[in-house]
Amino acid sequence: MNQYLKKSLLSFIIFTTFSYESAYQLSDNNNNIEFVDKELSKNYDVCVIGTGYVGLVLGSGLAEIGNKVICLDIDSNKIDLLNNGVSPIFEPGIEDLILKNTTSRNLYFSCNLADSIKNSQVVVIAVGTPQGPDGKADLSAIYSAAETIGKNLNSYKVICIKSTVPIGTWQKVTKIIRDSCPENCDFDLVSLPEFLREGTAIYDSFNPSYNVVGTNSEKAVNILKSIFKDLFNKAPLLIVSNPTAETIKYSINSFLATKIAFINELANLCDNAGVDISEVTKCMALDHRIGKEYLKQGPGFGGSCFPKDVQALIKIMEEYNVEPKILKSVMDSNEYQKRIALKKLYHLIGQDLKNKTITILGLAFKSGTNDIRNSPAKDILEELVKSEANIKAYDPVAIPEMRRVFSKVNYCNSLEEAISNSDAIIIVTEWKEFTELHDLLPKLDKKPIIIDTKDILNLEHLKEQGFIVDSIGRSCKCK
Ligand code: UGA
Repeated sequence: MNQYLKKSLLSFIIFTTFSYESAYQLSDNNNNIEFVDKELSKNYDVCVIGTGYVGLVLGSGLAEIGNKVICLDIDSNKIDLLNNGVSPIFEPGIEDLILKNTTSRNLYFSCNLADSIKNSQVVVIAVGTPQGPDGKADLSAIYSAAETIGKNLNSYKVICIKSTVPIGTWQKVTKIIRDSCPENCDFDLVSLPEFLREGTAIYDSFNPSYNVVGTNSEKAVNILKSIFKDLFNKAPLLIVSNPTAETIKYSINSFLATKIAFINELANLCDNAGVDISEVTKCMALDHRIGKEYLKQGPGFGGSCFPKDVQALIKIMEEYNVEPKILKSVMDSNEYQKRIALKKLYHLIGQDLKNKTITILGLAFKSGTNDIRNSPAKDILEELVKSEANIKAYDPVAIPEMRRVFSKVNYCNSLEEAISNSDAIIIVTEWKEFTELHDLLPKLDKKPIIIDTKDILNLEHLKEQGFIVDSIGRSCKCK
């Protein structure tokens, strides 16, 4: 029995005992294992293609509000995990939501794209659009999903693009579907941008500030209203054209990234000018023309969205003959900021890190996630591993991911272990657990230098206790 068959049978046993009667039938047809999911003969309100952060949270959320949803992925390992109640992504609350809705038979997972598309009224494309080598969004997964949808278009469907895509993608996707669908096929293509944040994705999906629907089809809007129910009622619903919806998504992410880059530069100014950035932003936040969100200084923005989307908007602007001067500066400024903690480290401890023990706290791009894509900690580690320093690192959830990138780092099992015998600690994300340092640090035999890039510690208090401390934008409190 080959490994795949063994794994499939294991899934079959766990799955049938774990959730509901929907059963996989395994048939060995010319050595091809064929999955036949009996539930696929039923109809679904929505099928979601792609089980990443966006697709999985959307699918589970739509199931929770009473829709029958099937989430699809071409990666059978992911689908096996999901069918066993295990989420392939770390997102607080997601496994409870999956368990609840698979048990109530509102939520299903499958690799069978063809049948699921045929049996669904609304088809959502939520596949990744990573940054390509040229800086543009790589749309290959979108185009492939569009072709599969076209080939299986057996009745009128609302087809939504949830993924972040450049202006005009809706036209290309419409053409691909038209070219691959049967004669006289009928569908509406809706651009449906997503605004949830990793780490708070479930809260964000149930508490939208606004909803954007890009289409000129009233029929599609009405169908989506019946699917999204209260989620469309509890926040402003903006019905716009497809290209407007595509532009809105990039505009919001790029504007927020610009806001952060600006505040980071201002924080660096405050450090040199002896001013406390938190007092400056407190006042800025009171000005309703500015608003209080995304004014927090730090070690640079990261993640799978801001860096990729700013870069993609730069490319889009260039294609439309607009010089993206501001956005180029935002990217440059962010690259600089990602190394600011190291500059502070060298200033306090010297350039020669030989025999020094440096501790990095927080490895993902922010707290609440194990996603290390474009994380500032990665840039810091990249430079530190070139030195002869002894590097220790700790993160509540992201160690396995970072271990795959940097194997020579001493990953610790606890905060206590990470900070013991350390010459310097750099805090890179804002996990609440890290505030326990207030209790842990005074117990240490050796007092480390502390660089708090996320402003989570009471620096004045630590300074009074004899620690050498530094921050971003609040250095005046450390001197
Ligand atoms: C971002 C957007 O906030 C979401 O609205 C959007 O849906 C998502 O991208 C996407 O396009 O899929 P996300 O990348 O999950 O969400 O994370 P954020 O919480 O927005 O943080 C992004 C980066 O900015 C992080 O590195 C964070 O630490 C940093 N940040 C955020 C700051 O440095 N300061 C702040 O005040 C806020």
